[in-house]
Amino acid sequence: MNSQPKEVVYNLEASAFNWDISPGKTIEAWGFNKQIPGPELRAIVGDTLVVRLTNNLQEPTMIHWHGLRIPAAMDGTGAVQKPVAPGEVFEYRFVLPDAGTFWYHSHANETEQLEKGMYGALIVEDTTDPVFDAEKVLMIDDMKLNSDNKFTKPGWFVPRIVERHDGREGDTLLISGKEDSVIGIAAGQTERWRLINASSARYITLYLGGKEFKIIGTDGGLLEHPRTVTSVLITPGERIDIAAGPFEEGETFAMESLPYNRSTFLKAKRQQFATVKVGKQKTSVAFIPETFRTIESLANKDAIITRKVRLSVGPSLKDGMDFLVNGDVHVNDKLVKVGELQIWEVSNTSLMDHPFHLHGFFFQVIEENGKAPEYRAWKDTVNLTPRSTMKIAWMPDNRPGTWMYHCHILEHHAAGMMAEFEVIDGNKPQEELNPVRKHHHN
Ligand code: C2O
Ligand code: CU
Repeated sequence: MNSQPKEVVYNLEASAFNWDISPGKTIEAWGFNKQIPGPELRAIVGDTLVVRLTNNLQEPTMIHWHGLRIPAAMDGTGAVQKPVAPGEVFEYRFVLPDAGTFWYHSHANETEQLEKGMYGALIVEDTTDPVFDAEKVLMIDDMKLNSDNKFTKPGWFVPRIVERHDGREGDTLLISGKEDSVIGIAAGQTERWRLINASSARYITLYLGGKEFKIIGTDGGLLEHPRTVTSVLITPGERIDIAAGPFEEGETFAMESLPYNRSTFLKAKRQQFATVKVGKQKTSVAFIPETFRTIESLANKDAIITRKVRLSVGPSLKDGMDFLVNGDVHVNDKLVKVGELQIWEVSNTSLMDHPFHLHGFFFQVIEENGKAPEYRAWKDTVNLTPRSTMKIAWMPDNRPGTWMYHCHILEHHAAGMMAEFEVIDGNKPQEELNPVRKHHHN
């Protein structure tokens, strides 16, 4: 509990700037406050976050607060606000309702703006969070650069089709804006590492040299119980919090991503993102309880489906392939009423993976390919493997307005795999619906 909620104010300036991703390797980045990632925003649950965005880019932008259950007008999409034009200022203001690892990113021309660095972490703490010896926020990204370290779009048909199909992946691997980082940790200590996949399309199977670590949280905050693993998949848009350590003095190991085959043209590889170096022994105050909290179940796996969302791909003469929701691109889906529990069957009939992201609300996966999941978690982004079906449950609380869902592979989103829908207060007349909404493609 936050007994003294306060206002936490940040100024973010979007601009182009030069950024060193490693010594001697400089890119022409776009981002917030001339750094990649943008400033880490941090507050306590219950605080009011105020962000003044000044756009000094040559094109419009907006900020989406990925994972936050805030009013629709603050969601930062073209459906709820006028994009912030060059030279203009827009103030975002909202109460932080949940503790967890969130992030913010541009929601305009995403395939270019995010790729160039327009993202940052938003950490919401709770006074009851478990105690660690230290905490690190690790934003994972990759960039596709040419031999002059420039961002170029594929010009020819075949590479263009490959990038549209696979999403944009590149060989410049970044942890919090830097290549080949060294992550230090004291021997004997346990740290909370908050991992955020900010890449356009890359699937990360986090692997720490075979060492065990504990998953403690997902998109929507802490799990009920820690889960001990040696690897974990983090798809674009997802967050995973882990307890790392304790390790032995002098140990060194790679932070890697194991290959994940998501049926891309480009073959999945095992790749190193950073090196972990264990320093001198220090005493530890970390304590990881066996139970973090209780997550009430919204529905069981047999709950009656209220909506079907089918992700698929279809042929397109111009671009080789279209990315579809219920057979169409850039869809306007049916409205949802406040207080009516949603049970959505989300299916993927294509032969590739898609990370499904719902704006503004947490959901629970209640069934995956006919089976109940092994544990309960709050999610806002979940991966659908090829030819799979999932049932998700979510409750539209009283935040009417225009919301959206989409595939978080940015090229798929841009190519049509997205939908907008209204959440309405059933007691109000329809005229009060959001007037801004027409047909937006971001
Ligand atoms: Cu992080 Cu509409 O996305
Ligand atoms: Cu997709």
